[in-house]
Amino acid sequence: MSEYLDRHKDKLKELLSKDRLQHSKSVAMVAEKLALKYGASTKKAIAAALLHDCAKGLSDQEYFNYLAQVQGYSKIKQSEFVREKYNTLHAVVSAKFAEEYFDIEDEEILDAIRFHTNGCSKIGILSKIIYLADVIEPLREESEDLRKVRKILEYEGINKAIIYEVKCKFKNLIKRDKKISSDLLGMYNSIISEMEDTK
Ligand SMILES: [Fe+2]
Ligand SMILES: [Fe+2]
Repeated sequence: MSEYLDRHKDKLKELLSKDRLQHSKSVAMVAEKLALKYGASTKKAIAAALLHDCAKGLSDQEYFNYLAQVQGYSKIKQSEFVREKYNTLHAVVSAKFAEEYFDIEDEEILDAIRFHTNGCSKIGILSKIIYLADVIEPLREESEDLRKVRKILEYEGINKAIIYEVKCKFKNLIKRDKKISSDLLGMYNSIISEMEDTK
């Protein structure tokens, strides 16, 4: 991890709070291990992990300006922007910001950043790794579900671990009468199909 981190340490320190930087490093540590295990590029996994939340520290105005440049978000309403700022939207804004401020051109890295909160219906291995590493990194608050996700990952692999984690998310959203995003549902369906095809 050190090579990439050394190169961007100053920029990252300037952009992220201490806790967020620690979280990003922790995601990178897990992502590197998963990339080795699942045959993905460790360099790309580290870059995507270190940058996955890179826009979270931007001011509202900067954030809004980047969001307006993302396809499909140019007409987003102010009320929706405020409510979603720290939820799903930070992923698409971080991808845009990584592209412009960190000169990331690799689409696999940008997708992994873009889809790290909700996944997507055509999810590749690098995006799966960042999605899961973000959830299970060791600095996350412990819970029964989290322990189960880590255990499933260890014994049954990344697809089953993501499916379990997504099911927990579904349950939680349904319980609170919240909408389920089409991306999250798309990722669930795509991984289930993948698992059926390999049976
Ligand atoms: Fe995030
Ligand atoms: Fe994160």
